[in-house]
Amino acid sequence: MFEHEIIAALQKSVKGEVRLEVPPDAKLGDFAFPCFSLAKELKKAPQVIAQDLAKSMHRPEIVREITAEGPYVNFFLDTTKVAKRVVERVFAQRKEFGASEKGKGRLAAIEFSSPNIGKPMHTGHLPSTLIGHSLGRLHEFHGYRVVRLNYLGDWGTQFGKLIHAYLTWGEKEKLEKEPVKYLVELYVKVTEESKKDLAHAEAARGWFAKLEKGDQMATGLWSKFKHYSVDEFRKMYAMLGIEFDSYNGEAYYAPKVESAIELLQKKGFAQLHDGALIVRIDGFDVPMMLKKSNGSTTYASRDVATLLDRIETIPFDVLLYCVGHEQSMHFQQLFSLMRKLGHGKNFVHVANGLYLLEGGGKMSTREGRTVFVEEVLNEAIALAKKTIEEKNPQLKRKDEVALQVAVGAIFFGGLLNDRAKDTVFDLNRFLSFEGDTGPYLMYTHARASSIITRAREFGLEPKASADFFVLKHPAEERVVKLMARFGQKTLDALNEYKPHVLAQYLIEFGRAFNEFYHACPCLSEPNEDVKRARLALIEASRQVLENGLRLLGITAPFEM
Ligand code: ARG
Repeated sequence: MFEHEIIAALQKSVKGEVRLEVPPDAKLGDFAFPCFSLAKELKKAPQVIAQDLAKSMHRPEIVREITAEGPYVNFFLDTTKVAKRVVERVFAQRKEFGASEKGKGRLAAIEFSSPNIGKPMHTGHLPSTLIGHSLGRLHEFHGYRVVRLNYLGDWGTQFGKLIHAYLTWGEKEKLEKEPVKYLVELYVKVTEESKKDLAHAEAARGWFAKLEKGDQMATGLWSKFKHYSVDEFRKMYAMLGIEFDSYNGEAYYAPKVESAIELLQKKGFAQLHDGALIVRIDGFDVPMMLKKSNGSTTYASRDVATLLDRIETIPFDVLLYCVGHEQSMHFQQLFSLMRKLGHGKNFVHVANGLYLLEGGGKMSTREGRTVFVEEVLNEAIALAKKTIEEKNPQLKRKDEVALQVAVGAIFFGGLLNDRAKDTVFDLNRFLSFEGDTGPYLMYTHARASSIITRAREFGLEPKASADFFVLKHPAEERVVKLMARFGQKTLDALNEYKPHVLAQYLIEFGRAFNEFYHACPCLSEPNEDVKRARLALIEASRQVLENGLRLLGITAPFEM
């Protein structure tokens, strides 16, 4: 929050761009200015420059001390002044504390989740779901308008299989009773039977070809299967608090493939190869396949048509694809192709690693069965309920809180590590009220809330007008300084498209708050000024936790 004041002061003595660093050790100050790059121009050793600057530069009001340490100028903030300014800002801005207008007038389109219909949502789609949702909130927080796109996997040869299977073995009653489960059964059956008898595989391909031609029977069944699936997805998204602006999936764009291919042919980019239509992209050995030899469209060609359509219909400034890193090559090729076509817009593949089981196994097979998001969510809710029963049996609205805790555990656990890496998805650990977890932070928030509630019972209202000069405890100083960094952290998370930057900061903040809570009593504090200052700091901390968790998709209850 105060960097710009130090930067402005430095700019009076230094030419060019000024960038501050945060020293690894707090003993070296709150901010540091490295002098290496000035050495050449000033023809002096960076150590000397640092010393000169520390002595001669103007000291901004918020800074207590400026020192030189080797090639760095170090700045120590005046914590009591920081406390006053930061708490005042929190009380003035509340839910908006930390927000900015960086993205004002800009539109971010975010594609995420994008499960495949005909199957329950699989945990493979969970990282994208959590990351995309958090990035949506981060963008809105920083002034962007956001369009959320769910690119359903609702097209492809698997639907030929399902149609064939349903027409061969299907029973209407079973489909109506538990549609998605039954579709999975049919899918497994047709896959097995196709291995034994190629005629089934042949028939399935035939049905997909008919579907692509708009055959009535095929289209009718496909649309029925789709609606059953989407209904289930929507229920799950509602529990997770996620909404989309568009569910236009692969099927929606399939009819646009033909004209996309024509464009590529006109430009001379497409070529025939063994009866299939392909496009070669510089730097890649494997070409993109646009059309199979039987004339069917492909995943790649649908993405080409989709992106061309999005460029035309959505006036986005940035388009994020939240999809697993196993599809990196596909997106690199897709984006290269767009640039070849002259589209210079900002497309980003926000790639994620896998969620693994404890011990390292892929989550797709647990004792031989698939793990579905719905199962994970229900298990989390049951576990959360159990903990609440143990810890706070009197709690009102238990079911609502249990859902919030379950969702909080999943979101936080799923977002805590760098998205580029794999994450061990350990639900029991994620649900623990201790450690680096969502419930730990939610509990910290509830703890702060309860102090405020009790203070109000004594007629004491937290106010930013408290006298913060009395806050001298190191635990108080730590909370204050971390609080001042909140906004920048949310911006870092956005700029890198990495929610874990915020999640890890929140853990640090939560720990600092709990240390403060234990070391510095509030309501029992005899000095009225200290009590009031602490109360204000507690309320401001609560607000920071609320805001930070919300940006990760988590609702922090006041009681739990
Ligand atoms: N439905 C796809 C899958 O399950 C993900 C879609 C990714 N987005 C895209 N534009 N291709 O793998």
